[in-house]
Amino acid sequence: MQKYSALILAGGKGRRMKSDMSKVLFELLSKPLIDWVIDTLKQSGAEEFCTIVGHKRELVMAHLEGRCEFAIQHEQLGTGHAVMMGKPFLEKHRGETIAVLSGDVPLIKAETLTSALERHAECDADATIITAHLPDPFGYGRVVRDGFGMIERIVEQRDATEDQAKINEINAGVYFFKVDELIWALDKLDNNNAQHEYYLTDVITHIRERGGKIGTFEIKDITEMTGINDRAQLYAANQIAQTRIFDELTENGVSIFDRNTTFISPNAEIGEDTTIYPCTLIKGHTKIGRGSTIGPNSVIENVTMGDHVIFNASQAYDSVIGNNVNVGPFSHIRPKCVIADDCKIGSFVEVKKTSFGRGTKAPHLSYIGDAELGSGVNFACGSITVNYDGKNKYKTKIGDNAFVGCNVNLIAPATIGDGAYIAAGSTITSEIPESALVVARSRETIKRDWKDKRDSDK
Ligand code: UD1
Ligand code: CA
Repeated sequence: MQKYSALILAGGKGRRMKSDMSKVLFELLSKPLIDWVIDTLKQSGAEEFCTIVGHKRELVMAHLEGRCEFAIQHEQLGTGHAVMMGKPFLEKHRGETIAVLSGDVPLIKAETLTSALERHAECDADATIITAHLPDPFGYGRVVRDGFGMIERIVEQRDATEDQAKINEINAGVYFFKVDELIWALDKLDNNNAQHEYYLTDVITHIRERGGKIGTFEIKDITEMTGINDRAQLYAANQIAQTRIFDELTENGVSIFDRNTTFISPNAEIGEDTTIYPCTLIKGHTKIGRGSTIGPNSVIENVTMGDHVIFNASQAYDSVIGNNVNVGPFSHIRPKCVIADDCKIGSFVEVKKTSFGRGTKAPHLSYIGDAELGSGVNFACGSITVNYDGKNKYKTKIGDNAFVGCNVNLIAPATIGDGAYIAAGSTITSEIPESALVVARSRETIKRDWKDKRDSDK
């Protein structure tokens, strides 16, 4: 893969979004637009990036901190002006190839960038523009070619003559340049146009006029160049991105029952032979293994899950779940849980900051918080850890193969030894040694014929 650097334009106001936020921080499938661009650049071999920030730059810079260099554009005077602000970065890369792209064109694929870059190098072009033929080119810059089919210039919608507006080949806003040519051409830009802006697209005219070579690379999948300028386009891009993810997963052996009610994050990985039932949201950096059944009605976020898991009508967040685990229906795995292989978290069970050793089961109606359960533990129906005294949280530790009967309260801090048995209905306040049986409840008193006696007293 050829190495290159990139300038990302993200300084604009994004006026058409009608928002107070920076446009590039708007989320597409819950991942900010700018992150899509950066991830794609990295996948395609780009090594150093500089992001041009302007409007709401504090937010964009805080979001990207440590991931790229920045150049500030104090006034938003157009895309060409934005690139001028990146001049110190360009100077460092003289003699190399640079990509310039917009933070608001998130769906471009890494393969497209690599192919365009190869074409750029093979043709020894000074600039290569990525273009596409659109049935409805409205709003995009049009590619004007001369009688020989060579690019003459790019004309923006607002500057286009009636004839130019009919051209349906558009500029995707993604370019490769020989850095030195770009630096030279930036000095020639002016703002004599309908928007009184310095257009980056005009560098093409200047490079060509000086006898430079302009190449084009046409995208066949036009969804790739969808630019996000307003919320309708953001919605459309969401649909496109989600369909791409569904198609890829389906091709890789995942069954998705109902695309209309399923959400799958771009950062999710799902193994072969896994089935996703309706009304399921798989969010964040979630990894699901093979042969699992997920949903219906489930939410899973930032969870790593093994193979052959059954996860039914439940929710899990920021946790790790092993192989052959059975969850639900109606359970809630809160952050920082680690559930080993072969465990069961049955119905109406809430776990938080808790680990389960192999084969441990909490089949019904429990709350288990701040706890460490060994392997082979049975945590029976209705039992809970009492981890909070109103001020502080305390831990519970349960040894391997311990048996916690029904409706037990473990008042934390609590320690239950390996193989200990806690009788149903017990409230435990002291440390229980291994292999012990503890019964902590009063015996029932039976008063025979009590009703008859009461009635005869009347
Ligand atoms: C731009 C292209 C157009 C192309 C389209 C593709 C120009 C003049 N036009 O138009 O030919 O078809 O992209 O999507 O380049 N930005 C700044 N500072 C500014 C202005 C913009 O950083 O002063 C950034 C924006 O944040 C955005 C990008 O540059 O990320 C593109 O700006 P935008 O106003 O969206 O350009 P388009 O009108 O879409
Ligand atoms: Ca745009």
